[in-house]
Amino acid sequence: MKVASTVEDLRGMQRELPRPLGLVPTMGFLHDGHLALVRAAREQNLSVAASIFVNPKQFGPSEDFASYPRDLNRDLGLLDTAGVDLVFVPSVEEMYPTGFSTVVDVGPIGDVLEGARRPGHFRGVATVVARLLGLFQPQRAYFGQKDAQQCVVVKKLTRELGFPTDIVVVPTVREPDGLALSSRNVYLSPAERIAARVLSASLRSALAAYQGGERDADRLRDQVSQMVTQEPLARLDYVSVADAWTLEELQHINGAAIVSMAAWVGKARLIDNVLLM
Ligand code: PAJ
Repeated sequence: MKVASTVEDLRGMQRELPRPLGLVPTMGFLHDGHLALVRAAREQNLSVAASIFVNPKQFGPSEDFASYPRDLNRDLGLLDTAGVDLVFVPSVEEMYPTGFSTVVDVGPIGDVLEGARRPGHFRGVATVVARLLGLFQPQRAYFGQKDAQQCVVVKKLTRELGFPTDIVVVPTVREPDGLALSSRNVYLSPAERIAARVLSASLRSALAAYQGGERDADRLRDQVSQMVTQEPLARLDYVSVADAWTLEELQHINGAAIVSMAAWVGKARLIDNVLLM
């Protein structure tokens, strides 16, 4: 596995990879959710590249950029074993050299849900993803359904900026008790780890209600919110029932919809979602 830490090295190494190339962008501290993206990329392409970059532009001033978990050596070992051909591990200065001023803003779709609670977050995501797509020129790029709004934002910028890359969305990988894998799960104490089940459990109950014929969005929101309220260690940030494509909040469900939520468990802010279709 080749490792590039500068844009110049990356350009040289990237050109030598047999195509099609699949790209898996990450912020590191890898878990099996990230590796599921690598496995999908391995199956569908002749070469696989990954990036590890904790992107300061997508963290708010009071968020966990400085304390975001990092373990580069372990990550490189996991990617090598998973069959990745090239990893890009830039410094902040390499990714954003002095004077870097381009911003990718996808508009209102980046200002709802996670974007409403984390102002500027999706500008940071869209800017770094656009830069990575430009540097790697991959035929496919892989993103997790766990970050549903990120998938919508990335698809939109790819289409509108004309990148010749297919965006592939990979299903959420979960612990046996339902908790979605996340690098931020390491913030949970043992008791909080048990309490954190309430996110996926409440989404599963909303899905069951939907499958039982419930189409009233408020009743689904109430159901999720009541379950979270019963868990003393969890504090609901929001629950949304939105159109799966436009992310507009729904009253009545009559097409593909997504139930998404964020909740605080201890000092971890966790997100999860389920598709209704
Ligand atoms: P990060 O949180 O490291 O996640 C990298 C990719 O792994 C994202 O596409 C995310 O949706 C996916 N992922 C995370 N947990 C997953 C799980 N349990 N199941 C399946 N996929 C999962 O998301 C980012 O980094 C950044 O915003 C990034 C896209 C790299 C831009 O900086």
